Amino acid sequence: MNTKRFVLGATDPVIVTVQQHILREQRKHSPHATGSFSWLLSGITLATKMTEARVRRAGLLDMLGSAERVNVQGELQQKLDVYANAALVHCLGIRENVAIIASEEIDEAITFDGRSGPGKYVVVFDPLDGSSNIDVNVSVGTIFSILALPEDLRASDDASLAVLQPGVKQLAAGYVVYGSSTIMVYTTGHGVHGFTLDPAIGAFVLSHENIRMPRQGDYYSSNDGNWDTFPQPYRDYISYLRSGEAGRRYSLRYIGSLVADFHRTLLRGGVFLYPPTDKNPQGKLRLLYEANPVAFIAEQAGGFATDATQRILEIVPTDIHDRTPLIVGGPFEMAAFEKFVQPARRVPSLAS
Ligand code: AHG
Ligand code: MN
Ligand code: MN
Repeated sequence: MNTKRFVLGATDPVIVTVQQHILREQRKHSPHATGSFSWLLSGITLATKMTEARVRRAGLLDMLGSAERVNVQGELQQKLDVYANAALVHCLGIRENVAIIASEEIDEAITFDGRSGPGKYVVVFDPLDGSSNIDVNVSVGTIFSILALPEDLRASDDASLAVLQPGVKQLAAGYVVYGSSTIMVYTTGHGVHGFTLDPAIGAFVLSHENIRMPRQGDYYSSNDGNWDTFPQPYRDYISYLRSGEAGRRYSLRYIGSLVADFHRTLLRGGVFLYPPTDKNPQGKLRLLYEANPVAFIAEQAGGFATDATQRILEIVPTDIHDRTPLIVGGPFEMAAFEKFVQPARRVPSLAS
């Protein structure tokens, strides 16, 4: 019996969902891919779609405001932080191939016992990034990083050891921005790709293939309210960008949600900086689930990320919630930054 091939009509758009893309990428780069990774990623996409549905109607669902609980960061949890975290724990918890998860909102790493077999993956995430912006309807997001469970560690061993891996070990990283549209951006080490959530079909559809950071941008992004406590090299660098000496006078764009500030930097170029401050001498941003995923994506798109002394991706974590200064941007801005950090603490040359 000959099967009739279904051909999309000329009017039907040929769509590539994020699951199809992941599977295609996996098969291209590891022909024996079992789809296990795609199954894991579908847990993340489901959780972010659950969160997106709450973000879009937060004011109608008693999803605004604080949950009256302080998290391990010492920050007042917002109701949406709690919901987004629960959605990810649930959706990843029911995926057998996830061995361990760690979250900005949870003190310790979580292992999943009673599995039929040992999981393969460790997932680390910031379930809701930009919490201070939730109540004022400004873009927020979710950030995630996927690592392999080290061969010598079973899930029941010290889970945090499995989490404390440098960023170069990431198998994949990504984020979702709940903005004017909902966009997922991810990399598995083979370029950076963006998917827009189509509410009509409830799927993330390929919209930005092979994103590359522009060589030079027009914006710098930092909380200049902390100017007086920035170390001098940062102030000199920002003054240089503002001065016109870099061939243009940079404008300041600062949203206060890393995921949105970085997404603009990824697409338009420029530089995002969260330097050390008096309040956060180690930097405010968390290494494992903010700086590392962003750094992986930036490098895959032709940019670079440093803490001013070393490549972000080479920092060896000592605690799940380690913080770090973060300077991440395009080739021009990051090469220029090298000239302002102490010569003894030069970051690896971009040319290398
Ligand atoms: P989170 O909401 O997950 O705690 O992250 C907030 C972070 C990051 O999104 C943003 O870049 C930074 O905090 C903004 O900090 P300031 O308000 O100090 O500028
Ligand atoms: Mn965050
Ligand atoms: Mn958060």
